[in-house]
Amino acid sequence: MRFLRYPGGKSKLIDYLDDYLPNSKYIKGNYIEPFLGGGSVFLYIQPSKSILSDMNKELIDLYKGIRNCPHKVWEIFSSFPEGKEAYYLIRDSEYLNKPITYRAARTLYLNRTCFKGMWRHSPNGNFSVGYGGEERRWVVTHSDLVELSRILKNAKFHVADFNKILDNVKDGDFIFFDPPYKPGEKELIESHYAYSRFTYDDQVRLSKRIKQISKLHKIRWVMTNSNHTDICKLYKGFKIKKLMKGTGKKIGIHTKESQEVIITNI
Ligand SMILES: C[S@@+](CC[C@H](N)C(=O)[O-])C[C@H]1O[C@@H](n2cnc3c(N)ncnc32)[C@H](O)[C@@H]1O
Repeated sequence: MRFLRYPGGKSKLIDYLDDYLPNSKYIKGNYIEPFLGGGSVFLYIQPSKSILSDMNKELIDLYKGIRNCPHKVWEIFSSFPEGKEAYYLIRDSEYLNKPITYRAARTLYLNRTCFKGMWRHSPNGNFSVGYGGEERRWVVTHSDLVELSRILKNAKFHVADFNKILDNVKDGDFIFFDPPYKPGEKELIESHYAYSRFTYDDQVRLSKRIKQISKLHKIRWVMTNSNHTDICKLYKGFKIKKLMKGTGKKIGIHTKESQEVIITNI
């Protein structure tokens, strides 16, 4: 299942990742995802116990709203009128003091109808992406939200930097890391991410913390990252597999053009 359009979403890489992802019944501890985004890997595995986190509060409120009240979120989402005028009215109206069900429905609506599923905010914090159309709005159905609510039932949510979430790690956990890619790449230049300026220093910080928890605990982890020498150097000693970006079919081909890597301790 896929319910969000998310920049850097991993749904197209699931075929490649599949070899590295455990079946949910083989995850003894928690499934942890510190850079949740659209959650395509979480939704693919559907683990029974999970810790899901992102710096993007609107995103986490969307998950929480759907988990707690899928029917109400659907009712509000489907009541928003169609068209450009309605889009700008809903986008620019006050929403912070509204209930979480409204905020979740609004975020889902903006995500499904904005231009290319971008997630960009102006300096004053307001969602600033223009209207994209209704074509992708009704791809999501009422029963999808009910199903999502069921899948999210035992999930624990956090809005936090990855470092804080990794304080929760215990033996037996499986962690999937999908940090925003190297600065300078398209996603970051176009500033799709609301809460991220994930710099090279953040990548260094992340690699150090992963090395630390890998020594301290019996855990398995998988990461997707940019196939850039500066990134790969940070994970010397771990398995690094180069991938063709988003081709969907040519699994595991090693090529100079490869732009993404899977890094893992499995
Ligand atoms: C590449 S996206 C994840 C995409 C996701 N795997 C999917 O399939 O849709 C990276 C996410 O990391 C979040 N993020 C950025 N900086 C972060 C930080 N320091 N700690 C935790 N999350 C962060 C962004 O808000 C964004 O949602």
